[in-house]
Amino acid sequence: MFDPTSAGPAARAVRLVEKIAVFVGIGDYTLGTVPEVARDYDPVMTAVAVLISVLFSFEWIVRLWLAPLDVPAFVIKDVVPHREAENSAALARLLWLCSLFGVIDLLAWLPIPAALAWGFPAATVRLLGVVWVLKLVRYTPALGLLARVIRMERQPLLGVALVFFVALVCAGTLAFIAEHGRQPATFGSIPAAIWWAVTTLTTTGYGDAVPVTATGRLLGGAVMICGIGLFGLWAGILASGFSQELRRSEFLRTWDLVAQMPLFHSLGAAIIADVTRLLRAQAVGRGRVVVRRGQPGDSMFFIADGEVEVFADPAPVTLGPGSFFGEMALISGEPRSATVVTTRASTLLRLDVADFRELMARSPELMRVIQNESARRTGRAVSPLSPPA
Ligand code: CMP
Repeated sequence: MFDPTSAGPAARAVRLVEKIAVFVGIGDYTLGTVPEVARDYDPVMTAVAVLISVLFSFEWIVRLWLAPLDVPAFVIKDVVPHREAENSAALARLLWLCSLFGVIDLLAWLPIPAALAWGFPAATVRLLGVVWVLKLVRYTPALGLLARVIRMERQPLLGVALVFFVALVCAGTLAFIAEHGRQPATFGSIPAAIWWAVTTLTTTGYGDAVPVTATGRLLGGAVMICGIGLFGLWAGILASGFSQELRRSEFLRTWDLVAQMPLFHSLGAAIIADVTRLLRAQAVGRGRVVVRRGQPGDSMFFIADGEVEVFADPAPVTLGPGSFFGEMALISGEPRSATVVTTRASTLLRLDVADFRELMARSPELMRVIQNESARRTGRAVSPLSPPA
């Protein structure tokens, strides 16, 4: 129920309530700093903040209680190998309390009532609500992804940061030399000139410090161009790291799905890796038409999870996990022979026609299995692969 990845209705309801509470809380403490709003609604805003704290305190207690379900036994064994099993629940709770989310969840409720009880002004206490936004981290997998990308790409990122620093110091020093005689107030020291270099190199340009000498302006132009290049480099490193990491996690997810399908069990590890690279996992809701009779075929599907109904002649056929469909149009080049609809929320692995042909050429064993099953479905003899229409 409190698992952020669970798709159950109770877990979804908990997530929704938590997110609504966080957004209401953020609205409460930010609007509370608007003087007119604070003047008219101060008690209401404080009451909302306390209410949200009470809600989060309840959540904290439940999460603490359920912590033994979350912290795996091997983690506990790693921390205290000599402890007996009966102590593991208490240890799991202690580990959760010290974890990042344990600390965030505690800070999300305790400080507000504590500070109010201590007698701090309500308007100041409400600012402690800034912690609420951190609760969204639990539901933001992209942040974990970003952290992994930064960890993996730290060398090139640090390299660019170093170039940035060198450019900053050089530009600041040169700007000081060029400008401090004409503008002692804004370029009177190297740190002040470095402030100009920061705003110029990052292409922010507040306009509070502007070079007026010809040398200063030339320098300004060079620094701006340098800044664009350096930020392009940063963005490039992060973007390629992101796409590599996404591909890697997609590969691992698809690998898990492919590995558990009996159809692929007999294939060697190299072919399974090939298949994994070519397949695209897609979640399809219940009652969706995946393939429509009469349309040209551009891909086939393996069912990793769920169920589909094939509206075949003379009677509909139900296909479940491990089965596949959409292969006939790819083999014969004819339009789709039947409409296929999901009867449950399903995870399908899609194989595009070009990849299908490549894979069939590389794995005659898989080709035989698919062709035999297709021939059994049509009641015809096995037909060789022909180009698609
Ligand atoms: P295709 O013709 O590309 O698109 C519809 C799919 O339904 C078809 O490929 C098969 O994969 C599947 N199909 C058609 N007839 C049957 C059947 N009798 N039994 C199981 N699957 C079928």
